[in-house]
Amino acid sequence: MSVVLKLAIVLFIALPGVTSIYKYAYNAGSDDENNDGVPDSLDLNRDGKLDHPGCPHNKAAPVLNPALLQTRDEPYRDLANTSASLLQGNLGIRPLLILNQYDVQYEAFVHQIRTYGDRPFDYLTNEVQGQRGFFNLPFGQTWKSYRQIIMRYYSNNVIRQPIGFEQSIKAELDYLRGILKTGAKLDISQVLARPLLRNFFFMIFGTSFTDFTDDIDKKIIPLFVTSLTLRPKVIDADWEPKKRETEPVKLYIENTKKILSVLKTMIQAHFMKKPNGIGNALADKLRKNIQQRLEAKGEDTCTFDELTAVIWDLLQLTVPGIIRNLNWYFLYMLNYPAVQSKVQSEIDQYLKGRAANGQDQLNHILPYTEGSILEVLRISPHTAIKRRTNAPSCLHGYNIPSNITVVPNLWKVSNDPHLWEKPEEYRPERFQDGIRFGTPAAFVPFSIGLRRCPGEAVAKMWMFLYVTPLLQEFKFIPEAIDGSPPPLESLPRRLFDLITPVPYKLIAQMR
Ligand code: HEM
Ligand SMILES: *[C@@H]1O[C@H](CO)[C@@H](O)[C@H](O)[C@H]1NC(C)=O
Ligand SMILES: *[C@@H]1O[C@H](CO)[C@@H](O)[C@H](O)[C@H]1NC(C)=O
Repeated sequence: MSVVLKLAIVLFIALPGVTSIYKYAYNAGSDDENNDGVPDSLDLNRDGKLDHPGCPHNKAAPVLNPALLQTRDEPYRDLANTSASLLQGNLGIRPLLILNQYDVQYEAFVHQIRTYGDRPFDYLTNEVQGQRGFFNLPFGQTWKSYRQIIMRYYSNNVIRQPIGFEQSIKAELDYLRGILKTGAKLDISQVLARPLLRNFFFMIFGTSFTDFTDDIDKKIIPLFVTSLTLRPKVIDADWEPKKRETEPVKLYIENTKKILSVLKTMIQAHFMKKPNGIGNALADKLRKNIQQRLEAKGEDTCTFDELTAVIWDLLQLTVPGIIRNLNWYFLYMLNYPAVQSKVQSEIDQYLKGRAANGQDQLNHILPYTEGSILEVLRISPHTAIKRRTNAPSCLHGYNIPSNITVVPNLWKVSNDPHLWEKPEEYRPERFQDGIRFGTPAAFVPFSIGLRRCPGEAVAKMWMFLYVTPLLQEFKFIPEAIDGSPPPLESLPRRLFDLITPVPYKLIAQMR
């Protein structure tokens, strides 16, 4: 069904829960006929001309109060209190622009994507892997070729044909069951690293990822957990140069270099096994892309450094996000036991004891269960991933300079009382009826436009395939003797941190 047709249908159907003119517009950017998140034509002329030459009042954006950016529990929530649609200021040495409203984010990330589609320089990334990788590529041909490969791979091997991916998750569910059945008090985020990293490497290497389970378990997991722990302590080294000399930063850089070196060994071993054949796993497709590009430039040395950096970027974008959201999910289930049992009744009623599969999510046969996951993504504070302007532009009537860091306040949009009914309430019902049409446009945890998260469909399926079987088999309760749930609070953090709940423990009871 074409996007236009879908749009037409949903425009005529009143869905509860959302109140706004943005209601049912879809997130597709312009210039993307096959809707795979990649522009079909990409005009690479960036001559610095304004998209909209008329910025009538020659205004600069309102000034950001720097106090809002200091360490605090929830910077995005504080920024949401200010009525300004966009704010400009400085974060340490970095000039910063905050897009504090949906229509401004849309104007920048959809209409002016060629100006707002790059990523800024990042100190830590540069120290670890130089300018290599995928995530930081400018919005241009190389980025496009990678993004196309990644999205096609997700679509063909995870979304449309979830069988292999399901198998990979089933194996890890057995592992989790073994741990949960002990009935011990458990920090769920601590036991998810192994399952999710193994699923990730299944995507990268296909079934032959089992060649590397030893490397994953003994090397990657401990290094990765260290990296996650250090991240909040080092993130500001990018904009506060004096932080760069501190121990955690040095440790973080050293630790990440170790991860890259283990990854590189794994990648080399993978290709050692099939020196001339190019297989179907994501690693194979990415390597082919690099080789073609080097050949076109007349270089024939395929170093594995670029491939390693790309795979590290993907790992960082994939696994921590899923761990974080599952961690929030179980915290919500402890705080909303009525929702938990409603999810369980839905699972019992429609699955009748059989195991859930990917097709169940694609067919939306458990809309309340899916809603319970989406509602966590909506309501829990989001991380923000940076963009950068590559030319001066006129945005929302304001003059915006070139080369500044741009941050969308995604949390504000997902919790804006003009766009959502009682946004402060956790209510899976708000997604339930409309789920077969997608999500409302104001649901933006994956961002918008052509550079939004390409893993949205994978992320939704991934979480569904963990949550459904676990809630089918277990009831999750707080560890406190009086049954009181741990608070729905996040750790204090910096603007670009991954937002994790205050650590908590739960107990799983067999149902
Ligand atoms: C619930 C989990 C996730 C959330 C909330 C999330 C959110 C985001 C956001 C906000 C961005 C920045 C987009 C922008 O600049 O506009 C992003 C980028 C990205 N995400 Fe996700 N993501 C999640 C999971 C995943 C998964 C599972 C994958 C892969 C399977 C993935 C792959 C990526 C990639 C490759 C990018 C970079 C896109 C580019 O630069 O072109 N993400 N994600
Ligand atoms: C923002 O609003 C919330 C509640 O409406 C309040 O708790 C918080 O202190 C406010 N933040 C600032 C910086 O005013
Ligand atoms: C953009 O800004 C960064 C620092 O934030 C700087 O390192 C870089 O050289 C600048 N690029 C251009 C093209 O001015």
